[in-house]
Amino acid sequence: MVLNVLKTQHGLTQVSRDMPRRICMDVKETIRKRRAYRSLEPVEITKDLINDLAECTQITASCFNNQPWRYIFVYDPEMLKKMHEALSSGNVWAYKASMIIVVIGKQEDDCVIHDRIYYRFDIGMATEAMILRATELGLVAHPIAGYSPKKTREILDIPEDIDVIALVIVGKHSDKIDPVLSEKQVKAEKERPERIPIDDFVYINRYI
Ligand SMILES: Cc1cc2nc3c(=O)[nH]c(=O)nc-3n(C[C@H](O)[C@H](O)[C@H](O)COP(=O)(O)O)c2cc1C
Repeated sequence: MVLNVLKTQHGLTQVSRDMPRRICMDVKETIRKRRAYRSLEPVEITKDLINDLAECTQITASCFNNQPWRYIFVYDPEMLKKMHEALSSGNVWAYKASMIIVVIGKQEDDCVIHDRIYYRFDIGMATEAMILRATELGLVAHPIAGYSPKKTREILDIPEDIDVIALVIVGKHSDKIDPVLSEKQVKAEKERPERIPIDDFVYINRYI
């Protein structure tokens, strides 16, 4: 299935599979393009888009092929509004989300090898695949930890034995800086926050 992003006459961004393929990026380009933007404008969410994103997680590697990832795609306007209650005060920018992907999972659904617990690793890898695909489609897919798992559970009827691991805020990047952003957040809209140098995290042949 081929999905593409296009603008409707009302300025709303739509992701469609009927258009000829216009987006063609290599993986590194998509990795570079991915940003945790916070100034969002609406994008139309379709079942095709959700299916496309889900397909990208479906084929991700996992320990023993256990596939521990579970996602709740929240895009009903009423449900999205309810989810505002679960967001931390620093994440009010996410009120403009067109969709919130709730990343959930359980330890018992994946490998536990002595003290090595793999479900969060595997779910993280699958979620990054989804984020990169969303990026390739021209969307913002911004993971956040600033939310209340308790409220998320209550709003979405998630049982106690399932961990609420992260939320991914989905929208279209807006050129207009959202006035709710802090100074630091505005700076991060304009330039990617600084990274530690490669030499500080890469070791060759030995850990020394
Ligand atoms: C697990 C995780 C939790 C995060 N939580 C938040 C958050 O609560 N609020 C927020 O605005 N950004 C959050 N971020 C986004 C990071 O701040 C962002 O990725 C980082 O500053 C680097 O910016 P970049 O992704 O645009 O390169 C989170 C990212 C990750 C991976």
